Amino acid sequence: MKRTKIKALLATEPTGQTVLAQGWVRTFRNNQFIALNDGSTINNIQAVVTLNSLDDTILKRITTGACLSITGELIPSPAKGQSVELKVTALEILGDSDAEKFPLQPKKHSLEFLREIAHLRSRTNTFGAVMRMRHAMAFAVHQFFHERGFFYIHTPIVTGSDAEGAGAMFRVTTLDANKPPRDEQGNVNFKEDFFGRETNLTVSGQLEGETYALALGDIYTFGPTFRAENSNTTRHLAEFWMIEPEMAFFDLQDNMQLAEEFLQYLVRYALQHCADDLEFLHKRAQEEEATKPQEQRSELGLLDRLRFVADNDFQRLSYTEAIDILKNSNPNKKKKFQYLVEEWGVDLQSEHERFLVEKHFKKPVILYNYPKDIKAFYMRQNEDGKTVAAMDVLFPGIGEIIGGSQREERYERLLNRIHEMHLPEKDLWWYLDLRKFGSAPHAGFGLGFERLMLFVTGMTNIRDVIAYPRYPGNAEF
Ligand code: 4AD
Ligand code: MG
Repeated sequence: MKRTKIKALLATEPTGQTVLAQGWVRTFRNNQFIALNDGSTINNIQAVVTLNSLDDTILKRITTGACLSITGELIPSPAKGQSVELKVTALEILGDSDAEKFPLQPKKHSLEFLREIAHLRSRTNTFGAVMRMRHAMAFAVHQFFHERGFFYIHTPIVTGSDAEGAGAMFRVTTLDANKPPRDEQGNVNFKEDFFGRETNLTVSGQLEGETYALALGDIYTFGPTFRAENSNTTRHLAEFWMIEPEMAFFDLQDNMQLAEEFLQYLVRYALQHCADDLEFLHKRAQEEEATKPQEQRSELGLLDRLRFVADNDFQRLSYTEAIDILKNSNPNKKKKFQYLVEEWGVDLQSEHERFLVEKHFKKPVILYNYPKDIKAFYMRQNEDGKTVAAMDVLFPGIGEIIGGSQREERYERLLNRIHEMHLPEKDLWWYLDLRKFGSAPHAGFGLGFERLMLFVTGMTNIRDVIAYPRYPGNAEF
């Protein structure tokens, strides 16, 4: 007999039909009631063992974590909170789980503890819900772009260009770290390395993405990116996934519009397709909030936050306007900010971004036209000579969720900027070529997938929305 997923069983009209369910035991009560979960849904099916129908030796092996194959009759359930249950007719133990040794007990574990057993945390309600939603969001990303005629480009993961400047890079090499070949000056000779040059893991697919936008029109990348910064925060990973659309003939306004529509689409998709998991995560977040001091609690619950973002326009404002607001803000005047905002030109810290979003506007904010000195070389220079056509989307509880810009499409301007910033012109020959041959206005942005996942799941640490987080000092599993 073929197994039916528990999600489907729970949605089936129970007429006493014989079905096969397979999954892992969550709890076993009174030698009679098995809560079985197979990961297809947050909900368990209750399998009921008729008293004295199973051998004692078998009953003893039905423990939390054990894997079972259960044949039974699907019948209406007299119990509250479930419409069907499974009357066991045959039960096979596929995998025992020693109750004494199984690290997941049927009680609450801290997220810190679960990180240490990331290979088993997948069996908890929380991580099941997070990963099912992660799938749904990835699917929605592709659907959004596909509906709009974008093409998915797989940009390279090993890259020979480190000019993006988005972050420190991880070297990729097959040279012997203990005895690398040296040139006459005594430097490591990368000509003898696998690719005949220095290579790294990519920090972004943007530059390669641009080459396809200026050929196919609208494209996006969605892949892993790597940054070797020593950032031990709840918002940074060394390996994270990024979605980067790039659009020919787009200016900054078009770019902001697309970013807003994209985020609202994803949030709506979550509300429409992940109701069970969201309900669970909403309650989980509520419980976590209750343990915090009053002033740190967020005003809205997870579901309210999602609905709010789906239904309200984002606030757009220039960097210059933001600086004025921040300068005159209470936390700045009372010196409550760790970094005081004193002059135009400073980079915004996440405390500033969160003030604008959570306290001042109380909605997502798109900041644009940043000082050129704090942004990347490829951003389009504005006529004021001071700012570039950059934009960051800031979210409550997260800070920056999207970073993007209109790109500098004018050859001379771009080349000047490359010189000013002392970037290796020779490595950027192909990027400059785009501006020599059929250049066009274009723009794009990058959405950090795990930052999106933080927002839609209400989880508070980015290490808990990816299967196996990589961060300084940690690459277990
Ligand atoms: O702002 P960033 O560095 O922009 C770029 O990389 C551009 N090439 C994007 C583009 O225009 N195509 O990164 C984009 C987003 C950030 O807004 C943030 O959401 C996420 O990527 N991000 C990180 N997420 C997790 N861990 C990190 N260390 C991250 N660094 C950036
Ligand atoms: Mg950024």
